[in-house]
Amino acid sequence: MALGRQTTFTWLGHATFLIGTPGGKTLILDPWLRDNPACPERFKNPGPVDAVLITHGHFDHVGDAVEVAARGDPPVIGAFELCAWLEGRGVRNTVGMNLGGATEVAGLRVHMVRADHGSGIATDSGMVYGGPAAGYVIEMENGFKVYCAGDTALFGDMTLIGELYSPDLAILPIGGLYTMDALQAARACRMLGVEHVIPAHYKTFPALTQSADQLIEAVREVKRLKVHVLAPGQTLG
Ligand code: NI
Ligand code: MN
Repeated sequence: MALGRQTTFTWLGHATFLIGTPGGKTLILDPWLRDNPACPERFKNPGPVDAVLITHGHFDHVGDAVEVAARGDPPVIGAFELCAWLEGRGVRNTVGMNLGGATEVAGLRVHMVRADHGSGIATDSGMVYGGPAAGYVIEMENGFKVYCAGDTALFGDMTLIGELYSPDLAILPIGGLYTMDALQAARACRMLGVEHVIPAHYKTFPALTQSADQLIEAVREVKRLKVHVLAPGQTLG
């Protein structure tokens, strides 16, 4: 099932995505590659990207951020505190922001929005405060809008995100345990009013949901909504 909006989404497993924009830019979301058991071998070392977006400081979202940022110093977007930690690890081109803020990066408007989740950074010397966990709304060059929820519980203000930004597509976690599950993601789709949803943050570990069937079943009656179930390494475009 094609998207037809000049935007591509390649799932690298878990919460990691390569996003190709209508203007030819490449973004990486939550780079976790080498230790990501779901990341196909050919994507473990992606080429240079135009921007890195990080939703929060957990290892399965920030694991390869320093290495990816070292290839060409692309802007790295994240919470102010997370960016300060990344700077300490040698990342030069950070764009620290906070919930409710917006910035221009790689020619795209990016909004940082709420997520209900933790953001501690596990280090050899203990847990470091990573600022708030976040989601992003990305406005593509052609007006196509993408909501990347990051790790989050379902929360009532997803309705507000729908009203404020009118996202066309959402990337939502469905794995349960650390985030909302598939049934709650189905509810999120209704609240957001999106036309497209890509499920993520599942199938990586035995403790997480192993299929998107429950999501597909739960949104069967939602008009115009398309569920795009990707395999790791697969591209939706
Ligand atoms: Ni997390
Ligand atoms: Mn996670």
